[in-house]
Amino acid sequence: MRKNIVAGNWKMNNELSQTETLISDLKKQTKTSNAEVMIAPTFTNLWHALEATRDHDIEVIAQNMHFADSGAYTGEVSAAMLKSIGVQTVILGHSERRAYFNETDELLAKKVDAALKNGIRSIFCFGEELADRKSNKHEHVVESQIKNALFHLDANAFQNIILAYEPVWAIGTGETASPEQAQDMHAFIRKTLADKYGHDLAESVSILYGGSVKPDNAKEIFSKPDVDGGLIGGASLKAADFYAIVNAF
Ligand code: PGA
Repeated sequence: MRKNIVAGNWKMNNELSQTETLISDLKKQTKTSNAEVMIAPTFTNLWHALEATRDHDIEVIAQNMHFADSGAYTGEVSAAMLKSIGVQTVILGHSERRAYFNETDELLAKKVDAALKNGIRSIFCFGEELADRKSNKHEHVVESQIKNALFHLDANAFQNIILAYEPVWAIGTGETASPEQAQDMHAFIRKTLADKYGHDLAESVSILYGGSVKPDNAKEIFSKPDVDGGLIGGASLKAADFYAIVNAF
């Protein structure tokens, strides 16, 4: 059975002392659901976060990485470096990386490969812009993003891929896809996977929804059969809100 996952994407928030405080607050929360919990602090605080959660089931993950193992890429961090400190999962292809750092599907295919080569799971993000949805191209856009970045993988590799559907128009805007819109897209994504890799693989991949998930809408979104969790931005910065979402399953 596929896993339920709630991952907090802290983005470029929280200096060291704020990271310490938030992790200590998170550890005081009670988990009543079966969801796997992940947090993605910024690079400079990953080591602290890993140390601070050694006695806890929160998994610390990275927000990005480069595709090369090492070399002349000033300012970048490799999969091998993440692996060497104990990071096991990385977010790739977030819409902010695509929009502000020109990340393309082709580049992301290389990053996914580098993560796999180093034994790191990817949370691969994709989603349409508002104009795509208004012109009814949202399924086509999402299908191409998945095909271009992931369909060179063999079925075995998909054990290390988590998908995150994040409609760009819903990220940080307070506007969420309706639970029905999320379900329709997630079912479409699963069918796209099934057409290529077969039903069993499609049923085994966790597909998260992201975009303004909050404590008051999480339950309804997570109740949909093809929604296996969430990638949470703003609401992951407050421990109580984040665990209200974790416990919405
Ligand atoms: P949001 O961000 O929850 O603040 O909309 C989600 C994300 O960017 O992953």
